[in-house]
Amino acid sequence: MRKNIVAGNWKMNNDLTQTETLLDDLKTKTKTSNAEVMVAPTFTNLYQANKALESSGIEVVAQNMHFAEKGAYTGEISASMLKSIDVETVILGHSERREYFNETDEMLAKKVDAALANNLRVIFCFGEVLDDRKSGNHENVVGSQIKNALFHLEASAFENIVLAYEPVWAIGTGETASPEQAQDMHAFIRKTLNDKYGNEVADAVSILYGGSVKPGNAQEIFSKPDVDGGLIGGAALNADDFFAIVNAF
Ligand code: G3P
Repeated sequence: MRKNIVAGNWKMNNDLTQTETLLDDLKTKTKTSNAEVMVAPTFTNLYQANKALESSGIEVVAQNMHFAEKGAYTGEISASMLKSIDVETVILGHSERREYFNETDEMLAKKVDAALANNLRVIFCFGEVLDDRKSGNHENVVGSQIKNALFHLEASAFENIVLAYEPVWAIGTGETASPEQAQDMHAFIRKTLNDKYGNEVADAVSILYGGSVKPGNAQEIFSKPDVDGGLIGGAALNADDFFAIVNAF
C-alpha cells in the first residue's frame, strides 16, 4: 500500500547528547499530515533513539548494513543485529556510500536480499550525477541502478521496499530538483516498475524524493502525483524544519 513517508537521514551527525536533545525536540512536534515519519541516527545512537521514541509515532531506521549475517567484517553491522534492537527499516544504496565506500549495484542487491530475508523494510536510494543529467542520460542511469539491484526480486518483495530518488547534484547543495524534474523521474521510475511487475506493484510502491528538500519547497514537490514524500538530510537536523516538511502534504 502506497504511503506518504518523510524520513530524516541524519548521516554522520549528533553524538549521544545531541541525539537525545534532537529527539526530545522532535517529540514536542505535532504531526498534521498522514505521513509516516522516520529518523535515521548513527549506529551508536540507534538503541537509545528507539527507546526514546517508543510510542512517539516516529520510527527509528538504520543508515546502512552489511549483507553478511556475521563474521570477519570489522566495523560492519548485520541485519539481525538491527532486528535485535527493534530496528525494522534500513536505508541502502545512498549515493555517499556508493561514492565513498564503492558500493556497487551487485553489492546492493546482496544487501537488499539480506535485509528482506530478515524482514527489514528497505529504503533503496539511487540517483544520477550532474554529468548524467546534463547529458540527458539520467533515466538510463536510474533505470540501471533499479534493475541491477532490485529486478531479481519477486513482485511480493516490493511490499517491503520504499524507493528514494536522490539526484546526487541536489544532495547537500541547495540545488533542489524542480518539482517537474522530480515528477518526471518519479513517473519514469513507476513506469519502469510497471513494465516489469505490472500496475499493482508499481502503484503500491512509495517513491520518495531526496536532495535539498526544505520547508520552503517541500509542499510543491510533495504535491506531484508520483512523489510520495522525502528523504531529508540537512533539514532533518532541526526539529522545526523537519516537522515543517512532515506536515507539508
Ligand atoms: O538521504 C537524504 C540526503 O541525501 C539529502 O540531503 O541535505 O540535500 O536534504 P539534503
